[in-house]
Amino acid sequence: MSKSTILVVDDEALIRWSLGERLKSEGYDVLEADTGATALEKLSEGVDLVLLDYKLPDTDGVAVLRKIKEFDQDILVILLTAYASVETAVEAMKLGAYHFANKPFNLDEIVAVVERALETTRLRREVRQYLTTAARPFNLHSIVGASPSMTALRHLVARVAASPASTVLLVGESGTGKDLVAKIIHYASSRASRPFMNITCSALPEQLLESELFGHERGAFTDARLQKRGLLETADGGTVFLDEIGEMVPALQAKLLRFLEEKTFKRVGGAQDIHVDARVVAATNRHLEDEVAKGRFRSDLYYRLNVLPIALPPLRAHAEDVPLLVEYYIDAFNTEFRKRVLGASTAAHTVLQQYGWPGNVRELRNVIERAMLLSDRSQLEARDFAALATPGRSGDDFDLPAKGVDLEQLERSLVVQALERTGWNQTRAATLLGLNRDQIRYRIEKFGLTVTHSRPTTKV
Ligand SMILES: Nc1ncnc2c1ncn2[C@@H]1O[C@H](COP(=O)(O)OP(=O)(O)O)[C@@H](O)[C@H]1O
Ligand SMILES: [Mg+2]
Repeated sequence: MSKSTILVVDDEALIRWSLGERLKSEGYDVLEADTGATALEKLSEGVDLVLLDYKLPDTDGVAVLRKIKEFDQDILVILLTAYASVETAVEAMKLGAYHFANKPFNLDEIVAVVERALETTRLRREVRQYLTTAARPFNLHSIVGASPSMTALRHLVARVAASPASTVLLVGESGTGKDLVAKIIHYASSRASRPFMNITCSALPEQLLESELFGHERGAFTDARLQKRGLLETADGGTVFLDEIGEMVPALQAKLLRFLEEKTFKRVGGAQDIHVDARVVAATNRHLEDEVAKGRFRSDLYYRLNVLPIALPPLRAHAEDVPLLVEYYIDAFNTEFRKRVLGASTAAHTVLQQYGWPGNVRELRNVIERAMLLSDRSQLEARDFAALATPGRSGDDFDLPAKGVDLEQLERSLVVQALERTGWNQTRAATLLGLNRDQIRYRIEKFGLTVTHSRPTTKV
């Protein structure tokens, strides 16, 4: 660890000398100043702590303290004075003085205070460092995608993060980025330096979930030998991410609702209301409306959560982002695996873009990870993704949209797409649709299709 530098500011040479000698013998670097003005000049030499006399020839200690803190919040200041009034002391502490020592002082005492102060800043710097590194992967730029839906998502997440009070509901299939967005909302908000706590409601039995979330008093149940703080308390000032909220049992839903409305709750077995300021971000891959209709989810909680819903679209709904995500993960795994894969071939990109990605971005990441582990070429090729290209997904994977479909229109559109994709090779188009040649010919005639029905494609 590098030596800390201490600036001793006093107009009396004897005091500067005695403090300086002692601090040097403790292993510190020492600078000296006899006026407020020289003290401020010395700051640029890199000072960790200032021992500051209150009564200086050109100004007073409090004025110098203010200037030091303007220069750098992190410099510690210990004021030394023979004339301390209570008002001065209070003002100095408000301005951020670390300590107030009376003159004449005891050298041992000063050294002890200095040591403690420096240890505090070291810890504070470490924590801040840790928090910035921990937060770094989770900012708006970690949402990859240039499609309108991802752009809109980034805007919405930014706005939500900037209003750090409101409850948020993330809705999306598995692998669409609910965890990611929850963390971004936390780390992009003013709550970032406070804890982010995370719990999956389906992972624990009811009683355990309740005590994890709300804590319990000693003796609340057989195993509760000690009092325990819950996640909400631990997260005070920060964010609690409740994943799979749809799995929470109704009794707990009621308790959560009370917390969302009043910011208070009782520990299990406790009588006292505990007040906590924690933002709740909830997530679900279910249609909560359906759960409400079936009586499995409280409607009042649903309405409370749904004040700020964020829908995360499935990857197939923004397939134009697939190439970007593919290149993003190639980059990421190059770093992780110390590889130098340059990208994916056009044919590989085609296979990846046409795939349906039922597991969304998580599946895409896994697919790229696997391909990178297995490939030793400089480029990922279509054959690295052969498993995705094989037909065999059965038609019943198709989800009927809520508003229904026009089946004729859909059939026509699928036939056109199959023909386009295969450059009007009827045999291959038929294979894509699970038809034989006669069946596709019949449909081409039925819909009166010719090459001109294809959407214009850019020919190169
Ligand atoms: N738009 C996106 N851009 C970059 N990475 C994403 C995106 N969406 C999801 N991911 C990544 O995909 C993986 C799965 O996302 P996750 O947030 O765990 O999904 P969920 O919680 O919805 O199941 C994570 O590695 C996440 O970082
Ligand atoms: Mg998740």
